[in-house]
Amino acid sequence: ELGNHRHFMHKEIFDQPQAVIDTLQGRITDKEVITEAFGFQAAELFDQIKQVQIVACGTSYHAGLVAKYWLEDIIRLPCQVEVASEYRYRNPVLQDHTLVVSLSQSGETADTLAALQLIKQRAQQLDFKHIASLCICNVAESSLTRESDMTFLTHAGPEIGVASTKAFTTQLVALALLMMVLGKRHKTLSVKREAAIVAGLKKLPGLIQNALTHEAAIQQLANSFADKHNALFLGRGTMYPIALEGALKLKEISYIHAEAYPAGELKHGPLALVDEMIPVVAIAPHDDLLEKLKSNLQEVNARGGQMIVFEDEASNIQSDGSFKVLKTTSNVGRITAPITFNIPLQLLAYHVALIRGTDVDQPRNLAKSVTVE
Ligand code: F6R
Repeated sequence: ELGNHRHFMHKEIFDQPQAVIDTLQGRITDKEVITEAFGFQAAELFDQIKQVQIVACGTSYHAGLVAKYWLEDIIRLPCQVEVASEYRYRNPVLQDHTLVVSLSQSGETADTLAALQLIKQRAQQLDFKHIASLCICNVAESSLTRESDMTFLTHAGPEIGVASTKAFTTQLVALALLMMVLGKRHKTLSVKREAAIVAGLKKLPGLIQNALTHEAAIQQLANSFADKHNALFLGRGTMYPIALEGALKLKEISYIHAEAYPAGELKHGPLALVDEMIPVVAIAPHDDLLEKLKSNLQEVNARGGQMIVFEDEASNIQSDGSFKVLKTTSNVGRITAPITFNIPLQLLAYHVALIRGTDVDQPRNLAKSVTVE
């Protein structure tokens, strides 16, 4: 099953172009997303909702955070995202007209399932008539799909490595499609914008393929992490959740302590960590926030942090030699950028773990499916 790959994680990283193709298959036309991809009830259920509540854990939670940026910015739909284990125990306020989206690779995560069950139970007690539940999941016959009104299956194929890679990528694809369907139903997405996003999604397998060709350069960069105890990941906008995901991957499989911050928060605390011993990974696509990010990065560089910047062809960050810049992609769009920029971070974590000799596919203390809380 491994083919030429040393580990399942490596195979699954390289499965991603195909996983995206399979997840898009039958869900889009040339210019449009197909509403029924979310089930025959989708149009009716989506029309009734006024907001979205996402519940998930770990990597799936990070996918939810990206979706919040998309839903609010692109189609102006309020969206909350919460870690399921917090949501279920904090006595949250549930409002009617909410679409509850559970995100899960396995469909068996105990906290995510319990959060969904709590919402359904509350809705019944409060006699809410317009709570709809959608599960975005990689396993067809799972506990979460059984509890949900609608299911959208990510067609990532089996994910064996404990560290989630292709499931995350396909969750983001699913969430982009959901955003478009909701925007169509609520008339907040123009035909033109929809066609542009569909065109971007069709380019995605090629963009990921291209990002994967930078493996050798990333492997080289990984050497500078081998003897480190801490790392910092920075991004702004949707790159902030991608930074969180990059830090989680590094923690899980290399056991290096890593933290992610929105770059604008640096001055509010984490800048105190920066010295010559800390690698700082920054994600710098050419977008509206690039100039702001650049000034954040100057602060890091001025304090001697070992900065590594992932950029696209248009970002054009000039290094004076004091930090490294790696162009891992061509210019990417609002939807394709977070998905594409996540790829080098997966490869980075993988190669750091290889150098450190950890068990990549079965990291210590972790299980693939967390069926107990
Ligand atoms: C991280 C990872 C975990 C899972 C989390 C949720 O690489 O795999 O953080 O994302 O346990 O699992 P699912 O998506 O199966 O609900």
